[in-house]
Amino acid sequence: MLYTRVLITGANGLVGQELVALLSRFPEYDVLATGRDAAPRFVEGSCGYVPLDVTDAAAVRRLFQDFTPTAVINCAAMTQVDRCEEERAACWRVNVEAVETLASCCRTFGSRLIQISTDFVFNGQAGPYREQDRPDPVNFYGRSKLAAENAARDAGPDRWTIVRPVLVYGTGHRLSRSNIALWVIDQLGKGRPIHVVTDQWRTPTYAPDLAQGIERVLRYRKHGIYHLSGREMLSVYDFARRIAEVFDLNPALIHPTDRSRFREPAERPPTTGLIILKAETELGYKPRPLSEALRHLGARLGLPVSTS
Ligand SMILES: NC(=O)c1ccc[n+]([C@@H]2O[C@H](COP(=O)([O-])OP(=O)(O)OC[C@H]3O[C@@H](n4cnc5c(N)ncnc54)[C@H](OP(=O)(O)O)[C@@H]3O)[C@@H](O)[C@H]2O)c1
Repeated sequence: MLYTRVLITGANGLVGQELVALLSRFPEYDVLATGRDAAPRFVEGSCGYVPLDVTDAAAVRRLFQDFTPTAVINCAAMTQVDRCEEERAACWRVNVEAVETLASCCRTFGSRLIQISTDFVFNGQAGPYREQDRPDPVNFYGRSKLAAENAARDAGPDRWTIVRPVLVYGTGHRLSRSNIALWVIDQLGKGRPIHVVTDQWRTPTYAPDLAQGIERVLRYRKHGIYHLSGREMLSVYDFARRIAEVFDLNPALIHPTDRSRFREPAERPPTTGLIILKAETELGYKPRPLSEALRHLGARLGLPVSTS
């Protein structure tokens, strides 16, 4: 059998763990997972693991020499939007310079680069967005991810793919950061009131659906830009209400608010959301409907969910 050798960076994160679990199920993929930790944090999926800090260019090059990947899926990033605003140099090193290194190695070794980007490359004035719409980020995280998209193209013609998800939610083992669904479930489960914005609109992405979309990009050797989010567009407040509904939690604890309530260092784009028609048509990408995704998450968390 001819193996596709897949190098996953940032494999201990939310998206990375999901990809490891999914790709390990296919015998045709020889997966090498990498992350900053000395040992893997994921428990699902069987594959090799070596520590790799993607900002260490020499270590990245050595790994390419040793593993000679067919494809690299870059899930490593500084993903905390406010932290990126405040720690710009550190953000740039991980989100941009590391992608330059990966793209350069991909060019040298003939590997493909699948770069995970974000809806935050858009300004949020006119969402939902198509792949060909013009990026115009409103914060430093978005600027770094747009620069990373441009850097990824250096992997060579036909050898780069940019995948853009939106507000990714799901679960994993010992994740270093929470996500909207886990936060809402946790807070409401403890009977704590939460304030959630009504003036930010998104098409939330369930991490296992995103992993399936990325697997199809890999399998069909697609290049270019693909929007891989959920299909439903809703405000973050309405998303929290849907979570409460499915997990049978008290919706009265969710208080509608707007951005002005929060003093966040980074601006947020108001209405992003992505149009996924290209991925549906070219990849057969089929994200679960929101309620189904939330019930699936409930099953994984071992929590009771409503069946209606
Ligand atoms: N989550 C979202 O809502 C969302 C939305 C749109 C796009 N995205 C994009 O999706 C991709 C994956 O993000 P995620 O949601 O899986 O976030 P995540 O859980 O924060 O995962 C990012 C991973 O990158 C790792 N990392 C950071 N710096 C590194 C370095 N120098 N070397 C190696 N690994 C490093 C982190 O390690 P530690 O665990 O040690 O911190 C973490 O495991 C990112 O490109 C992000 O921009 C995410």
